Amino acid sequence: MNIIIVKDALEGGKKGLELFENALNNGAEVIGLATGSTPITFYNEVKNSNLDLSDKISINLDEYCGVANDHPQSYHYFMQKNLFDVKPFKESYVPDGANTNEEEACGAYNTILEENPIDFQILGIGTNGHIGFNEPGSPFNSVTRKVDLTPATIEANARFFESEADVPKFAYSMGIKNITDAKEIVLFAYGKNKQEAVKSLVEGAVTEDFPASILQNHDNVTIIIDEEASALLK
Ligand code: F6R
Repeated sequence: MNIIIVKDALEGGKKGLELFENALNNGAEVIGLATGSTPITFYNEVKNSNLDLSDKISINLDEYCGVANDHPQSYHYFMQKNLFDVKPFKESYVPDGANTNEEEACGAYNTILEENPIDFQILGIGTNGHIGFNEPGSPFNSVTRKVDLTPATIEANARFFESEADVPKFAYSMGIKNITDAKEIVLFAYGKNKQEAVKSLVEGAVTEDFPASILQNHDNVTIIIDEEASALLK
């Protein structure tokens, strides 16, 4: 695991862009994308770059269930506003949270992932160690499926909704296996509230109780963290 410690999220976005450009120069075609507040500085750098992504494919990690694709809190909408409006891809996939047929929605997504292996995957991390919406206890061999969001995740995401009661309780998420099948992974984490998670990610046991710990076993992972998030590392 390569660790890059930066001053702040702005610098982290710039570092992320360097790694992304490098991957594209080495032939990356399929890019795995995340939502949440952490990757925004990276997306801003991509938007301000002269990169042309119109012949690339993007595949997002997850989407809330029961939320229309044009809902302002949907991850479809997030990606459109934060990246795709400015940098469109040839094809962009986000799980179809509006499809109530779990088997159909997740099966289709796993087929997309099989047909388009991810070259470069962007990740954030939950304070409980989730990646995508793979909450603690998610099997390391999991693929895209419907998942329950934990109370901690619902609480953390309530800031984006009018009230906690409005936060969806389920999501479709790529599984841990889909994520670790990516050739290269870049995980961003910033701020004091990610300190414990970063410590477990880097120095903790590899266990399904802390899903992100599996990244210790991947041979091409870089974590880009700011000084605050790195404070507990030995
Ligand atoms: C988002 C996702 C989540 C977030 C994580 C951190 O697509 O899959 O795993 O990366 O919840 O979220 P932020 O960046 O908002 O702290």
